[in-house]
Amino acid sequence: MERLILVTGGAGYIGSHTSTELLAAGHPLVVLDNLSNSSPVSLDRVRALAPGPLTFIEGDMGDGELLDRLFAEHDIGAVVHFAGLKAVGESCRIPLRYYRNNITGTLGLLGAMDRAGCRNLIFSSSATVYGDPASLPITEDFPLSTTNPYGRTKLFIEEILRDVCAADPRWRAVLLRYFNPVGAHPSGRIGEDPRDIPNNLMPYIMQVAVGRRDALQVFGDDYDTPDGTCLRDYVHVDDLSRAHIAVFDKLNQPGAGYFYNLGTGRPSSVREIINAVEAVTGLKVPVVEADRRPGDPPALYADSSKAQTELGWEIQYPEVKDIIATAWKWHQAHPDGFED
Ligand code: NAD
Ligand code: WQD
Repeated sequence: MERLILVTGGAGYIGSHTSTELLAAGHPLVVLDNLSNSSPVSLDRVRALAPGPLTFIEGDMGDGELLDRLFAEHDIGAVVHFAGLKAVGESCRIPLRYYRNNITGTLGLLGAMDRAGCRNLIFSSSATVYGDPASLPITEDFPLSTTNPYGRTKLFIEEILRDVCAADPRWRAVLLRYFNPVGAHPSGRIGEDPRDIPNNLMPYIMQVAVGRRDALQVFGDDYDTPDGTCLRDYVHVDDLSRAHIAVFDKLNQPGAGYFYNLGTGRPSSVREIINAVEAVTGLKVPVVEADRRPGDPPALYADSSKAQTELGWEIQYPEVKDIIATAWKWHQAHPDGFED
């Protein structure tokens, strides 16, 4: 029988989409999530979208006893590790919560994996590890730095995984550096549904479009970019999800660790996103000009040719308008997210 994949954080935004893709590709799953930023309804929808074996365990990745039991009771061949806190602003206010949850939690997970002899890991890293890069587009060999505690948790975990792989060749870790994941499953049944006020542009603008919030604040329009607003690389969450499946081949090859950028390489400005949302929805998005948000680099976009060449990763949503259309389908059908 095929070995199971453990998906930590599988009830969350990227985790639920990737779980759907993994099930559709025939991989049986165990999902571990403490539901601190997600709803279990997302997993009911995943099951409906992609029938296949999915066992949900509600719990914390830092709970060593729970993890030892999980690995003893399930034959886990690999772990896809999404679990973590991700709000940059909150991480500046309560850094200890971020270091404890993301770093101590990951150390707990790695310890349990080691004890169980399961040493294959795919880790959700982030473009935040490139800080404010000296040039663009960003390739995987750019110097690493970061500007906030959340970013430092990603950077530290990357370093920890590098050390673990260097010390013991039985470990295989693939680190995926996501740029700006947006969009939703084309069915409109699952999508992004943060518990609090959204920090990110896309969920915020969508909540404005469905009438949950009054206006979008544009954080700075005096950057040295073509229209003065920041440029980012918005990549469809299903394209990201498919990259995780492509990575499984890597886990079977010897090597100390692998790094891949996941972005489209096509930057869009905040203004362009607003225009595209208005074109897709047919609605006017009320906008308020606001100060720059501290720590925002003017432009970040990926060179993802390594993932395309080595993994055969194909971007199915190169156009930001098509990505926004999928996000709109989800938000329009579920203006209150999974709570409806
Ligand atoms: P999300 O908050 O929707 O999902 C994370 C999930 O992890 C949630 O379901 C949450 O309940 C769970 N979780 C958190 N701490 C946990 C713990 N200690 N034990 C068990 N479960 C826990 O976030 P997402 O957008 O799906 O992000 C997934 C991963 O990708 C995160 O590690 C994030 O840092 C990373 N990432 C996200 C983005 C982005 O913009 N969304 C970009 C780059 C990297
Ligand atoms: C995009 C642009 C904002 C909200 C963050 C994390 C990064 C990664 C992805 C996890 C910026 C502007 C935003 C708003 C705005 N996450 N904006 N009004 O900052 O590129 O990346 O998410 O790893 O680590 O830092 O994404 O969506 O927050 O912002 O004007 O209400 O939209 O200033 O220029 P960001 P974002």
